[in-house]
This record gives sequence, structure tokens and C-alpha cells, in this order.
Amino acid sequence: MNVVLFGPPGAGKGTQAKELTKKYGIPHISTGDILRANVRDATELGKEAKGYMDRGELVPDTVLIGLIRNRLNEADCVDGYLLDGYPRTIPQADALDGILREIGKPLEVVINIDVSDDNLVERLSGRRTCPNCGESYHIVFNPPEKQGICNVCGSQLYQRDDDREEVIRQRLTVYNQKTKPLIDYYGKAGILVNIDGSGNVDEVFQTVSGVMDKY
Ligand code: AP5
Repeated sequence: MNVVLFGPPGAGKGTQAKELTKKYGIPHISTGDILRANVRDATELGKEAKGYMDRGELVPDTVLIGLIRNRLNEADCVDGYLLDGYPRTIPQADALDGILREIGKPLEVVINIDVSDDNLVERLSGRRTCPNCGESYHIVFNPPEKQGICNVCGSQLYQRDDDREEVIRQRLTVYNQKTKPLIDYYGKAGILVNIDGSGNVDEVFQTVSGVMDKY
């Protein structure tokens, strides 16, 4: 199953992907998670990406295209992949098309999770993330069992630098300018499915699963 989970920042892509990868047994490839791991480990890639991420801007296409090419060539993608956070620009989508042709795993469906801007800001500003295992929570909608502590690994949760309100607004602007045009791009390719992401996590999971079950 070859899938892109698409949507604006805070739509719930990561939250859904974590459960979908368990249900369907395909790897969850989140470019945001890969970049954050590189920032945490202070790699050359992380040092290059950090400034862009903190400002709510996109990391340059050339960097992302190389990263995704390497990741999709790893052995665990043999039965498919669930992309989250890639592609985010038309050049990234064009490059993806070429990479997938090379490896013989064409995209089957792009699932666009649609959520209003007010909900996105509410979701992102209340998000708390685990620096160790990457699990994400929401102070109201999905709180950890023990306040401020990750259920999975017991680490202290933190608020991502890009989840401050002014950076959230910038990320939404960048999404509207550079990423939203991909809805048309994949609509024209005939592989786009729009779903309503305004329900709770379980409701959205049922809807997304209903789409994925067809592939
Ligand atoms: P990335 O980490 O990909 O950020 P994003 O796309 O902005 O997405 P988020 O992770 O913020 O949101 P999400 O949709 O996964 O929502 P989540 O499930 O966490 O990228 C970060 C940065 O890296 C970018 O800004 C850029 O700089 C760089 N980057 C990454 N990829 C790139 C690329 N391809 N090209 C260039 N640069 C790139 O949910 C959000 C919150 O809502 C959580 O608190 C969650 O608990 C809650 N929630 C989820 N679902 C629901 C629900 N149904 N109801 C209520 N609350 C919910």
C-alpha cells in the first residue's frame, strides 16, 4: 500500500499515522520526525534544517528530495509506505514521482485531512511532544496519563519551538502558499481523497481506515 497522508500543520497526520502503521504494517515516514531527530543529534543536516524549522519555513527542496530518496530505498519499504509531511512543494512532488517510478512503487492514494484554521491553531498550541520517542499529546484532546510525562517512555514532554502561536501562523501561511497547490496536483492525477478531519482521533481513524481498506 503506497500512501501519502496530506494536510496542513496540525491536521493530525502524525497522530493518525502512528496507528495506521500498526494496522497496515507499512512504515510511517515523517520528514518532520526525521529532521527533528537530526536537529537533536546535531548532525550536519540538523544544523542546516534547524533555522528553517524554528521560523516555520520549509527546508530547501534539494535537502528533502535526497532525504526521501534514501528513506524510500530502505528495505522496510518493500511492501509500501505511509508518507507524512512529504511532499510539500510541487518540485518535491515531481521528484517523488521520479523516485517512485525508479523503485517501481507508484503512489496509490493521497489522503487529504481537512481541518479548519481555528481548529489547527487550537490543536498545535496545545500539543506536547516527547523529545525521546516522538509521541505527541494534546493538553485537552489527548492528555498523557500523568501530566507532562510521556505514557510510552516516561520522558518529560516539551512544547515544540514551532508550536508557538506566531510560528504556527507562519506555518499556515507557508502551507497555503507552497503546499496547498498539491491538492490540485493530486486531484488532477485522480488519486486524491478528501476526508473531514474535524472529529475526534478515533472518528478520523475510522474514516482514514475506510479509505485505506480499499487499497
Ligand atoms: P512537521 O513535523 O511535518 O510539521 P507539520 O506538517 O507542520 O505537521 P505537524 O507535525 O505539526 O502536525 P500533524 O498533522 O502531524 O498533527 P499531529 O498529529 O501532531 O514539519 C515540521 C517542520 O519540518 C516544517 O515546518 C519544515 O520546516 C520541516 N519540514 C518537514 N517536512 C518538510 C518537507 N517535506 N519540506 C520542507 N520542510 C519540511 O496533531 C497535532 C495536535 O492535535 C496534537 O496535539 C494531537 O494530539 C492533536 N490532535 C490530532 N488529531 C486530533 C483530533 N482528531 N482531534 C483533536 N486533537 C487532535
